[in-house]
Amino acid sequence: MIRHLLSGADLDAATATQILDTAAEMATVAGREVKKLPALRGRTVVNLFYEDSTRTRISFEAAAKRLSADVINFSAKGSSVAKGESLKDTALTLQAMGADAVVVRHPASGAPHRLANWVDGSVVNAGDGTHEHPTQALLDAYTMRSRLGRLAGLHVAIVGDVLHSRVARSNVLLLSTLGAKVTLVGPPTLIPVDIAAALAPGTDVCYDLDAVLPGVDVVMMLRVQRERMNDSYFPSAREYARRYGLDAPRMRRLPEHAIVMHPGPMNRGMEITPEVADSPRSTIVEQVANGVSVRMAVLYLLLGGNNR
Ligand code: NCD
Repeated sequence: MIRHLLSGADLDAATATQILDTAAEMATVAGREVKKLPALRGRTVVNLFYEDSTRTRISFEAAAKRLSADVINFSAKGSSVAKGESLKDTALTLQAMGADAVVVRHPASGAPHRLANWVDGSVVNAGDGTHEHPTQALLDAYTMRSRLGRLAGLHVAIVGDVLHSRVARSNVLLLSTLGAKVTLVGPPTLIPVDIAAALAPGTDVCYDLDAVLPGVDVVMMLRVQRERMNDSYFPSAREYARRYGLDAPRMRRLPEHAIVMHPGPMNRGMEITPEVADSPRSTIVEQVANGVSVRMAVLYLLLGGNNR
């Protein structure tokens, strides 16, 4: 098993499949009256969050607690980081406290890679800038596999603000490793030139959502990340929604079996209408539940639940 999970590219097909299979076993724990396994008793997991987060932070915390690890939540607000402490000094502090795993979210792309050089424990990237978010890609793959029965041969459209999306990048890497085909869809201003070829050969780009929908098994809508935009990438929110938002008439263009995904948080009414988000095709709530099982599997395998 790998020691750190920093990128979707860290996972080959066998390792990714092992994580998904382990997650399926972990999911059975959630159905029990006592939702806890002793696997990581005596281990310490630190959640180091330099950026706002609701579901990812809570999900990692729940995952570590269900495995009986001790969990320390560290948020940059109210800590010495607010006094200007560097990432390196924070890392050395965590190291001195004996962290077995550090789960890190940081606004700077690459921060988890730096951290991995400074601590002895495992580092899990929980989102770095606009770069990667590998456990989101794993939970998305898990959700597709459980709804559609397979990943190989699936056609997945990832739609919207690809430029600022670490979710998109990690998904393209992981899905192509697992044999799915990805089409990136959005306005040209929000799809970096050459991204498809740079990430994974075989990935397409299309600027016309209506043309893509009838041929896909999965449509994954991305949040328009206005907090990362310092330019205007499209004329108006209304115009964006009209061309790239998923509403009920557009959803009807999808094949009968296709599912609608979104990593959250959603801008309801912008990239997705409430009617679509709350429809039976939507897996948005399932994705959150699956996130806990997948993160349990990642922590368990990285911390050598079975072989370290
Ligand atoms: C994503 C993130 O933070 O990268 N959300 C998440 O982890 N569930 C996507 C987003 O912020 O739009």
